[in-house]
Amino acid sequence: MISDEVKNRHRRLVDEISRHDKAYYVDAKPIISDREYDALYDELVELEKKYPELVTPDSPTQRVGGIPLKEFKPYKHDVPMLSLDNTYSPGEVMEFIQRVRRIIKDDEIEWVVEPKIDGVAVSLRYENGILKVGATRGDGETGDDITENIKTIKSVPLRIPVLSDDESQKEEIQSQVVKEKKNLVPEVVEIRGEVYMPIDGFEKLNKEQEELGEEKFANPRNAAAGSLKQLDPRIVAQRPLDTVFYGTGIIINELSRADIPQSQIELIEWLKKLGFKTPDKIWVCKSEQELLDAITELDKIRHSFRYETDGAVIKLNSFALRQQCGSTAKAPRWAIAYKYESQRAMTVLKDITVQVGRTGALTPVAELEPVELAGSVIRRATLHNEEEIRRKDIRIGDTVIIEKAGEVIPAVVGVVFEKRTGKENQFTFPRTCPECGSAVSKSSIIGEEGIIWRCVNEDCPAKIRGRIEHWCSRGAMDIEGVGEILVAQLIKAGMVKDVSDLYKLTVSDLERLERMGEKSASNVIKAIEESKNRDLWRLIHGLGILHVGAGVAKELSKHFQTLDDLMNATKEQINAIPEIGDVIAESIFQWFSNPKNKQLVERLRKAGLNFKSSLYKSELISKTEFTGKTFVLTGELDSIKRDEAQSKIETLGGKVSSSVSKKTNFVIAGKSPGSKYDKAKQLGIKILNEEEFLKMLKDAGAM
Ligand code: IVH
Repeated sequence: MISDEVKNRHRRLVDEISRHDKAYYVDAKPIISDREYDALYDELVELEKKYPELVTPDSPTQRVGGIPLKEFKPYKHDVPMLSLDNTYSPGEVMEFIQRVRRIIKDDEIEWVVEPKIDGVAVSLRYENGILKVGATRGDGETGDDITENIKTIKSVPLRIPVLSDDESQKEEIQSQVVKEKKNLVPEVVEIRGEVYMPIDGFEKLNKEQEELGEEKFANPRNAAAGSLKQLDPRIVAQRPLDTVFYGTGIIINELSRADIPQSQIELIEWLKKLGFKTPDKIWVCKSEQELLDAITELDKIRHSFRYETDGAVIKLNSFALRQQCGSTAKAPRWAIAYKYESQRAMTVLKDITVQVGRTGALTPVAELEPVELAGSVIRRATLHNEEEIRRKDIRIGDTVIIEKAGEVIPAVVGVVFEKRTGKENQFTFPRTCPECGSAVSKSSIIGEEGIIWRCVNEDCPAKIRGRIEHWCSRGAMDIEGVGEILVAQLIKAGMVKDVSDLYKLTVSDLERLERMGEKSASNVIKAIEESKNRDLWRLIHGLGILHVGAGVAKELSKHFQTLDDLMNATKEQINAIPEIGDVIAESIFQWFSNPKNKQLVERLRKAGLNFKSSLYKSELISKTEFTGKTFVLTGELDSIKRDEAQSKIETLGGKVSSSVSKKTNFVIAGKSPGSKYDKAKQLGIKILNEEEFLKMLKDAGAM
């Protein structure tokens, strides 16, 4: 039996930590120091370790659940999650206002204007105040149940309401406050809003991805969506995600006598009281002029928000009036989105060209009449793939709308059909490679939807360019100074046909190229020379074998230790590595079976490149402090580059992971560490500062 005293202590700790989470993550006004917070948290962890029966669903320890899921369960929304119709000009906004006015014959209509947050729409279901389900929008009717991922986001309350600090003190004196608070919460309520990745967090994450040789995210929205799609909540917990809430779905209220808001303004106040984050600023407008002014003002200040805002949402304030307007199947009639013009532009699609990438993938590119967009002149935009052109019915000569959101490359989002004259030409996607005229074949990319056409010719000039650029890139052989322009020059001058030719270049060769002085020429040659000693995984990654990224390359070099052993391996032997499946094994095997590739490898050997792995394989290396341990790096290190630190750890038999979990043995924290640091503290994982880490390397003989 657990004593009442222990139970009460547990309850108090849960409440108190939840309150501090709200103060820190929702209100940005921490009440206690990190140290005091940690002490409370540690006490809670200890208590729950001793009495596992005490663990409640709203305990802060439950933010990171256990095991990764195999797939997400579907979740049917009780009330569908609609989307919004878009407008692009004040004129269109006025048309919307008139449409509403025709339905509601009231002179004094109140409008609200809110920022349109460029995040991922989510719906949180609370039952009797406890967070039960977090789900994505999906098709509006049914989304994915991503509860475990949602729980990792600290600004999401696990139980509502979260009492504020002074209220909780009052609670001791008068239980009346508690009763009032209870009336805030219906029996069942779906709270709706957006999950987003703050812009600074996004930039930091992408820097880390780059350093680890992983794919970068195109923009904060993709990064947020990609994070929420992770099946392992422990990875999600490392991602800097935040929330804004502005709506509700179902509210079941029969028994609880909760005071339910009757307008958007009341709703936002209510959400705040419950402990949710709400939009940075909201305008209440009583006239058309006020409304247009609010939209203009938002445009001026939106860049100061932590999330990307690509527009304004205009809503009727009163819920009763909303009822009168109703909804279509897709969107409500009482609200509309206004997309800011600076993010979009209209121009003429002069032509469609097709670009060929390193893997031979054919990507259609829109050649545009130059147009200014968000401060830069845009001449080209991506059209993604053949299917996209067909779906949007994009024709050459069309007037199109292009959009640039955040850091993404501009894309064609649609055609202005009213401007069609009939003289436009349909685009036929080439069935031969536009670079070399060879045949193309259909393939799909792992993890991506849609069919990709690829050039089958291994000697296609576009592929050669792409392969050499990839070889020199940071995540592969890391040859500084050899980028797109120099590679194109080298190929044009006939100096380089494949990556092995790089190692034959001399300073005087390079000096013959345009805009290349002696100093830069010798720097480039030096960088190429240095790359000969790169670790084997970089070389394997650099070969550009389809589906072989940095991660797979590391597994391969750990397992085989030399390039020769990998080359001589059977498909089955490659497939036997746990991280490597059929498709990848087949791709690797095929690559090394190709006589041309074998010859390339021989040329690289002759050039003196390192073919041996320094990554740990258990039988080969004597044990060190690092052997078999998992490390996580966070923050900036002064005296060692992050990838250098990583390779040293790996050389010594350790593993570097991008996320902290119970399996992490050490977290190395540099300057201004991220959330990984907090997580490590929570889990009681050993944290090393830079000095301690360097000492450990030294002791293991790696410094
Ligand atoms: S209200 C019934 N308010 O934009 C639909 N939506 O393009 C009510 N969004 O699906 C939506 N910020 O995911 C609303 N302040 C805001 C919003 C917002 C972003 C999203 C939402 C919606 C999408 C429509």
